[in-house]
Amino acid sequence: MARWSVRIDPPWSLQAWRDAARLALRHAVAPEQLDWLHGEEASLLDAPSLQGTDAEAGAPHDAPTYVAKVFVELAATCLCHRDPQRLSLLYRMLWRIAHGERSLLSNPTDPDVLRAMALSQAVRRDSHKMKAFVRFREVPGQQDAFIAWFEPEHHIVDRVAPFFARRFAGMRWAILTPGRSAHWDGQALSFGPGGRQSDAPTEDAREELWRTYYANIFNPARLNTRMMQQEMPAKYWKHLPEATLLPQLVRDAGDRVQEMHDRQAQAPRRRIPVPATGAPAVTDTAPATLGALRDAASACRRCPLWEPATQTVFGEGPPNASIMLVGEQPGDSEDLSGHPFVGPAGQLLDRALRELGIERSALYLTNAVKHFRFERRGKRRIHSKPQLTHVNACRPWLMGEIEKVRPQVIVCLGATAATAVFGAGFNLMANHGRWHVLDDATRAFATVHPSWVLRQTGDEAPGNAYQLLKNDLQQLVEIKPTR
Ligand code: URA
Repeated sequence: MARWSVRIDPPWSLQAWRDAARLALRHAVAPEQLDWLHGEEASLLDAPSLQGTDAEAGAPHDAPTYVAKVFVELAATCLCHRDPQRLSLLYRMLWRIAHGERSLLSNPTDPDVLRAMALSQAVRRDSHKMKAFVRFREVPGQQDAFIAWFEPEHHIVDRVAPFFARRFAGMRWAILTPGRSAHWDGQALSFGPGGRQSDAPTEDAREELWRTYYANIFNPARLNTRMMQQEMPAKYWKHLPEATLLPQLVRDAGDRVQEMHDRQAQAPRRRIPVPATGAPAVTDTAPATLGALRDAASACRRCPLWEPATQTVFGEGPPNASIMLVGEQPGDSEDLSGHPFVGPAGQLLDRALRELGIERSALYLTNAVKHFRFERRGKRRIHSKPQLTHVNACRPWLMGEIEKVRPQVIVCLGATAATAVFGAGFNLMANHGRWHVLDDATRAFATVHPSWVLRQTGDEAPGNAYQLLKNDLQQLVEIKPTR
């Protein structure tokens, strides 16, 4: 039996694997005849390479094999796994599909399918952990430049880096891992060789403040250690500034809850006195639960909007909601009441939802910016559109809500919410109502903001605008509201 080899570089590249697999398929090289190599690895049986040789130049030009998009997506994810067998596993599956087993992926008991699914799930889990536990630290002496150190289990840096580019578009940052590094200069993403932990700052000036602050907002009554351990496995703790506090906070939780019960009710303090310089660092979405995230956001000083506002207006709704609605920012009524979408825009939204038969209480409603931005005119406070810096400053809270609630569907109400979720440059009127798939597979679309509908004047424009909003929201009707 003739043996061949193919080399893949980098070993997680879908393009490289695809080119090699197509070449082998065109030469009718069966899976058991092919050695998959990467890096400097040599073929054990000295099999000649199919690539860059006469064999490649003279490859027969049969009709290409078309495979379903789900297989390509599965392959892209599996390739990021460290299992050296994944390259040949995927080729064996491709071979079987090309040789008549067109519905291979629909057989969930097939050992190859099972293995590929397990690899893909491990990569997705690792990617999720990277998104949740990367902690950037400010580079001393440089403004707006941050470095994070992270140790992923799999080859996920190229896969996850675009998420950070969107989320922290306004900063310059690098993520160093032992095998690969990603760099964002504010405009473009690039990749390089791995780094060492000592290349990243170990601590930045804000971390002591963050710890003090975390200890203050830690709510022992909400402690759920099982969930905390599930969500934050011990191996990531060493990257988290607050991790050093957790053992003591957990030990003291029982006594503190008792104290809280024994204490007389006190008038709530209006603000937690955190100095302006104590703004939590960019990735301070670490709190393990939605409640802890809400507590942390209530003392946010990440931009100046907190100062004139009455309070942070955090999202509300079931933590297992399938649908998340994201607005722009609280208005006057929301700022005073502390609840999102209770003023005129909220009432219009309620009407549209009611007419569509969608239960508002089953949705999670939040805003891109959590403080009311306004200008004073006499005694009135007039809404003022938040700027990109406010959206960026607030993004960790929104991303934290998305991470904790994990909705199936996100609806952005208006351009500010669309910018927060899809990135700057989203053209709302050209794309309203159109589905997009986010990096973490959440489906999302944007529609007009109810307050834009309220601003329309004339005979027809208000009715048309309302109908547009309703038509877009109609797409939610089929979705089961909670999981
Ligand atoms: N507009 C918004 O975007 N959000 C609210 O909560 C209220 C009005």
